Amino acid sequence: MYLTDDQRDAYARDGFVILPNLVSPEEVARIKHDLVRACDLRDSRVVREKGSDAVRMIYGMNETDGPTGSQTVADLSCSSRLLQSAKDLLGEEAYLFHTKCNLKEAITGEIWQWHQDFGVWHHDGLERPDMVTVLLMLDNATELGGCMYFVPGSHKDGDIAGTQDGETTSVALVALGKPEMTELIRKHGEPVPVTGGPGTVALFHPYLVHGSGHNMSIHSRWHLYFVYNAVSNVMTVPKENARPSFKASPKAVPLQVRDAA
Ligand code: SIN
Ligand code: MN
Repeated sequence: MYLTDDQRDAYARDGFVILPNLVSPEEVARIKHDLVRACDLRDSRVVREKGSDAVRMIYGMNETDGPTGSQTVADLSCSSRLLQSAKDLLGEEAYLFHTKCNLKEAITGEIWQWHQDFGVWHHDGLERPDMVTVLLMLDNATELGGCMYFVPGSHKDGDIAGTQDGETTSVALVALGKPEMTELIRKHGEPVPVTGGPGTVALFHPYLVHGSGHNMSIHSRWHLYFVYNAVSNVMTVPKENARPSFKASPKAVPLQVRDAA
């Protein structure tokens, strides 16, 4: 076990738990260095904002043999801090379904509409929401800078029907609109801002309703996400429908915890 009983209870109750200062300033600096290099690539792993050259997302940072790979990200994904925490919440062995970095740049970084994550992963062929996302803050996450907001307890509502939105930003998603969010917030209470300094981690459930606003600040808001899947939660979709493996890895091989000496 890496997480305490209280932390596991908080995750079960709220759908998330926040661990400040989990990752060192040196690790954060190395990851940011690798990301700066990846931003220059013209590759499908690098997604830009709508109508601009600003980078919105980078996939595949855990794949050290790929163009956006980072050894520090790969090492961190096997650390007890991240992997054992994920396994504690899943109750079994886990592998990385994907990693992505959302670089919400100063002034230009755009919103993420309210949504749940599991819908698209279910579409990828995963049966159950036996997954956990580890959000790592690489910059200060502030309300002005477009930090994430969670609706505590919303993971207990399971799959909530939304509307496909391919227009608002460069990344299409199934967004939850005014009627769904009004009902949800009346039921669960106001969303909470997920703020913190670089190195802070938030673990959250794939059904947790979340979103974030435009970055109105003059500081970037870079977040890195590690999505772990339980090894028994196998993909069952025919190969011809599969997304690229950097978005939906079919390699359900348990990761071994490995901490730097
Ligand atoms: C996401 O939900 O995938 C991204 C949200 C964010 O980075 O603010
Ligand atoms: Mn999401």
